[in-house]
Amino acid sequence: MPAADFDVERVVCRESELGSGGVRAFTIGAGDWPLRGLVVRVGATVRGYVNRCPHAGHPLNLLPDRFLTPDGALLLCSSHGALFEKLTGYCVAGPCPGRALTPVPLEVRSGFVMVADGVDVAALSEWEKIA
Ligand code: FES
Repeated sequence: MPAADFDVERVVCRESELGSGGVRAFTIGAGDWPLRGLVVRVGATVRGYVNRCPHAGHPLNLLPDRFLTPDGALLLCSSHGALFEKLTGYCVAGPCPGRALTPVPLEVRSGFVMVADGVDVAALSEWEKIA
């Protein structure tokens, strides 16, 4: 079997695993503070964010992979209803307008969605812990 041309520990999911809504949670890293994020399809690209709302620090979803408004247009924080643009992560309504989700740069290679080279996963995980 040929060696993968990328670090498999940075793989978020297969691109084909993005369901009909095009969004899912992911966890990267080990230990007590792995990076917990979400990946969302936006047109022909994907965006990733730390799964932590800038309002009160809660995860956006209460149920597995439930991150979208009913029409699928925006990301929704289930705690207090903040709404975020999928493309930018900016809050457009709710209790934290003008703030934004923390981006996790992603790339797609060979059908896999992965955290982009050069991204410090540990630092993003640490941010999740202390922010
Ligand atoms: S924690 Fe997300 S809207 Fe309050």
